[in-house]
Amino acid sequence: MANYIETYENLNKTLTGINRLGWNSKTEQWMRFHAITKLINKHVGALTDLTIHDVGCGFADLLTHWADTPPKQYIGTDCIRSFVNEAQSRHPTADIRLLDSLKQTPPTVDVSVMCGTLSMHKSMQQIVMLDKIYASSRKAVIITMWTGPSQGENWWKMERHLLSEFGRDRRMVRNEDLYDMSENMFILLK
Ligand SMILES: C[S@@+](CC[C@H](N)C(=O)[O-])C[C@H]1O[C@@H](n2cnc3c(N)ncnc32)[C@H](O)[C@@H]1O
Repeated sequence: MANYIETYENLNKTLTGINRLGWNSKTEQWMRFHAITKLINKHVGALTDLTIHDVGCGFADLLTHWADTPPKQYIGTDCIRSFVNEAQSRHPTADIRLLDSLKQTPPTVDVSVMCGTLSMHKSMQQIVMLDKIYASSRKAVIITMWTGPSQGENWWKMERHLLSEFGRDRRMVRNEDLYDMSENMFILLK
């Protein structure tokens, strides 16, 4: 079994609430969602005009965050069945799918959001998955990645990859909001 699946299944067994997803707090999760929304509005356009893939959606809390201004189309996918079930019970009419975006074909949309999705992957898996998601996105990809002590080396590899693939033509924009977390957030524009 892929180790990122095992890691999330273990979190799910041993922790409760938002910690099951690997987040520290609801406040931090909401701050990320706020920053993601700002990046989309500023660099791509109004959410209401866009199709969005929430890659590794967890409980689809991003859709809850967007309750007042939902996107034109939202697709949430996750590789953990119990997360998908919970997301579906919170959003009975939403399009939530069991899908491993590292191994299966992701849906084609305007914007893909990877909020914490890459954090538990090995460095090479992160790069393969990012490239697949980029290929399936018409306008942009948003990536947030934990860069704390356990992920430091992976992050440098990812940052080198991002800079060499996307840095040259200024299609890679770093989130400008200050928030006190060991995390980087970028939007990659097409
Ligand atoms: C840190 S959690 C964040 C969940 C959600 N994006 C949020 O912000 O609340 C990362 C999520 O990515 C999912 N994930 C990790 N690797 C994945 C993959 N290869 N395919 C699909 N989902 C994946 C995990 O199951 C987990 O739900």
